[in-house]
Amino acid sequence: MYYPEELVEEVRMKNDIVDVVSGYVKLQKKGSSYFGLCPFHNEKSPSFSVSGAKQMYYCFGCGAGGNVFTFVMNYENYTFAEAIKLLADRAGVALPEVEYSAEMKQRENHRARLLEANKEAAKYFYYQLRSKQGELGYRYLSGRQLTEETMKKFGLGFANKTSDDLTKYMKQKGFEDKLLQEVGLAGFDERSGMHDKFWNRVMFPIQDINHRVIGFGGRVMGDGTPKYLNSPETPIFDKSRNLYGLNFARTARAGNIILCEGYMDVISLHQAGFTQAVASLGTAFTSGQASLLKRYTDKVLLAYDSDGAGVNAALRAIGILKETGLTGKIINMQPYKDPDEFIKNLGKEAYQERIDNAENSFFFEIRMLERGYDLHDPESKTAFHKEIARKLCSFEIEVERENYLEAVADKYNIGFENLRKLVHTYAAQTGLVKPVERPKSSMAKKAAPEESGKRVQRMLLTWLTDEPALYTRIQAYIEPSDFTDELYRKVAERLFADIAAGNYNPAGIISMFEEEEEQREAAALFNTKLEAIETKQERERAFHDILYAVKKNSYEYYSGKLGSDMQALNQVIAGKKALEELGKTHISLD
Ligand code: CTP
Ligand code: MN
Repeated sequence: MYYPEELVEEVRMKNDIVDVVSGYVKLQKKGSSYFGLCPFHNEKSPSFSVSGAKQMYYCFGCGAGGNVFTFVMNYENYTFAEAIKLLADRAGVALPEVEYSAEMKQRENHRARLLEANKEAAKYFYYQLRSKQGELGYRYLSGRQLTEETMKKFGLGFANKTSDDLTKYMKQKGFEDKLLQEVGLAGFDERSGMHDKFWNRVMFPIQDINHRVIGFGGRVMGDGTPKYLNSPETPIFDKSRNLYGLNFARTARAGNIILCEGYMDVISLHQAGFTQAVASLGTAFTSGQASLLKRYTDKVLLAYDSDGAGVNAALRAIGILKETGLTGKIINMQPYKDPDEFIKNLGKEAYQERIDNAENSFFFEIRMLERGYDLHDPESKTAFHKEIARKLCSFEIEVERENYLEAVADKYNIGFENLRKLVHTYAAQTGLVKPVERPKSSMAKKAAPEESGKRVQRMLLTWLTDEPALYTRIQAYIEPSDFTDELYRKVAERLFADIAAGNYNPAGIISMFEEEEEQREAAALFNTKLEAIETKQERERAFHDILYAVKKNSYEYYSGKLGSDMQALNQVIAGKKALEELGKTHISLD
């Protein structure tokens, strides 16, 4: 959805950043800004600043920053469209309706109807759990040490023994047979007619990240089969793209997400304070789920059952995580089977220790591999080492591969050079890894000049946002094209135009960018730390130096492009002239 810029601005201006952020972070006024503990990284003393004047936030600790949209996107893990919707609602601004085709509308209506059915059924199950017929279920859940609060949080319910009470209830609420069958709450056969799919089970509503009930899992009372019955896939329930518990886990900010096997594991973990736990939905972990997790974390801790099936599932999940670019670690739950049992027996502190000591997925894989070999038999041992070498080839980055090589050689007492040779032989044979290239010269690379060039550009932009009136004094020497990074250039262009039009508004500039990363980078441009300088004379000198450095960087940048870029020549000629003039000019900061 593309909203006109004026509308985006209206929404932004009606949501004062200090107000909005205060809803999430405790802020304290300090000078002209507010400070608080950064919600985007762990810290003990506040380095997170919010400026009412700039309508921006910036963390001096981790570099998180942006305007009110960035904040909501970052905090809630929302897209730009979702953030603008939240803030428009908050400020009572009406957003234009999206134009749908008739077909799309129909599909949307149908989805909405399926969601309503699930919501109604969840309410019914919830009510049953607390009624006379539900006593069995309630006792079962309490017996598994769930508190009332936890049952409520997860909306747990009960499907009682009567085989058609839900169907009757739903019909009375206006849901037609066909819909009930489609959403998987009822079935039909000749003998019994319409009947409930779930009965004699405690019910786990499965929610999407927006807390909407998209399906159910039901655990049988006693030893019936199947132990868990799950809703079928429907237009609203895609099992490969949702995770149980993610609606809570996505805002847990624990620095990791714990992936477990079962609904009960997730619930026990949340009850013990590990609100970052999620589980797949009665099916194996998929790459769609991995991509979903990647929106929230880059570190996944696996808490799969410690039995054979659990280990195999973990090995599969590790592969999927790797492909998605996530690091996986394995939580050891021995001597217990799963997180639920572990916490019940050893408590949360012990579990936290297991989290802290989670095993690197590579070592886990090797350790599991080892079980298939007899290390007292030279032949078997060699095969094991070859297999290690093969696995090492999966690290494409040389440094990483070498680090693992060293660690694994050490751990399994294999000669480092021997193992390395084995890896290279294997790699060369299969073409898996490019042969190691030795650098031609040993000279270390100098700190990229690019970075220092960018730094002064950031300093200049920050200075100008702090004192916009200065722009008119340097206008003759500087232009947007002097900013050699594309994003910087865009920001400068807009900032200069705004100041010239008497319309200075840095937070609005950030909304030019839809991606959170870009917003963050843009915010850094307005929040670079400038050294506190005492005397006016020194300040003037510093400002002059920064301006000069930006100009010089630009001059060098375009000189480097001479010959390949026609425009560059003009730029170089003008730049040279400006530099000479600037060298003789005094710019007053009064
Ligand atoms: N599962 C399923 N169908 C089954 C068995 C299991 O869909 N017949 C799924 C469920 O999502 C369940 C998960 O696999 O949550 C883990 O199964 P299991 O380890 O058997 O579940 P536990 O959580 O250990 O079950 P409980 O503690 O209730 O016995
Ligand atoms: Mn289990």
